Amino acid sequence: MITAPTIATVRAAVAEARRGGARVGFVPTMGYLHQGHLSLVEEARRRSDFVVMSIFVNPLQFGAGEDLDRYPRDLARDTALAAGHGVDLLFVPTVEEMYPTGEPVVRVVPGRLAARLDGAARPGHFEGVLTVVAKLLNIVQPDVAIFGQKDFQQAVLVRRMVADLELPVEIVVAPIVREPDGLALSSRNVYLSPAERVAARALSRALGAADAAARAGERDAARLLATMRDILDAEPAVRPQYVELVDPATLEPVTTAVPGTVAAIAAFVGSTRLIDNVVLP
Ligand code: PAJ
Repeated sequence: MITAPTIATVRAAVAEARRGGARVGFVPTMGYLHQGHLSLVEEARRRSDFVVMSIFVNPLQFGAGEDLDRYPRDLARDTALAAGHGVDLLFVPTVEEMYPTGEPVVRVVPGRLAARLDGAARPGHFEGVLTVVAKLLNIVQPDVAIFGQKDFQQAVLVRRMVADLELPVEIVVAPIVREPDGLALSSRNVYLSPAERVAARALSRALGAADAAARAGERDAARLLATMRDILDAEPAVRPQYVELVDPATLEPVTTAVPGTVAAIAAFVGSTRLIDNVVLP
């Protein structure tokens, strides 16, 4: 595995792989890798011959008072995990390499899809995400890029950006990887105290209950939402920020759940903000 701190090195390595006929796959991350990230690498390997991963904690997507300064980092461990899972090129730029003139003036503005859910809770977040993803896609120029369903709104917005800006890349969205007790893997889970870690199971339990109710024929959004809220409210350490049933294309709330409707939750567990979702059957 090549570790590349500069854009020039990435371009040269990708060009060389392409000369050898390789199809290029790309997995963008903020590091502190877990099995969720690594499942994206496995998906990239199935779909390409040369896998690029980026690790960049993007300041542009963090709001004031968010966890940019304490976001977990362990580059030595990440490097070993990436190499062990078949990443061919690891791009680890500095902030100066990505934003040499300071914060970029021209950005990707996500529009109304970013006004909902996490975008409503985190103003400017998705503008920061799409701006860095556009830059990374332009640096790597992959044939295929893999994103996780865990960040469902992010995946919707990336697809929208790729379509609206005619970016020549295929976007693949891979399923959520969970702990045995249901908690969705997240780099931020490391913030949870042991008691919070137990309470955090309420998110996946609530989504599981909505999923089970939908499977049993419940279609009424108000009742499905009440099922989820009851489970979350039973955990005093869990403070929901949103609990929604949305159309996966518009992200607008639905009144009747249909196959493909997404149940989505954001909640603070202690001071840690967690998100999770499930696509209803
Ligand atoms: P990060 O949170 O590191 O996530 C990187 C990728 O891993 C995202 O596509 C995310 O959806 C996916 N992922 C995270 N947890 C997962 C899980 N439990 N199962 C499956 N996939 C999971 O998302 C970002 O970084 C950034 O916003 C980024 C796209 C890199 C732009 O800065």
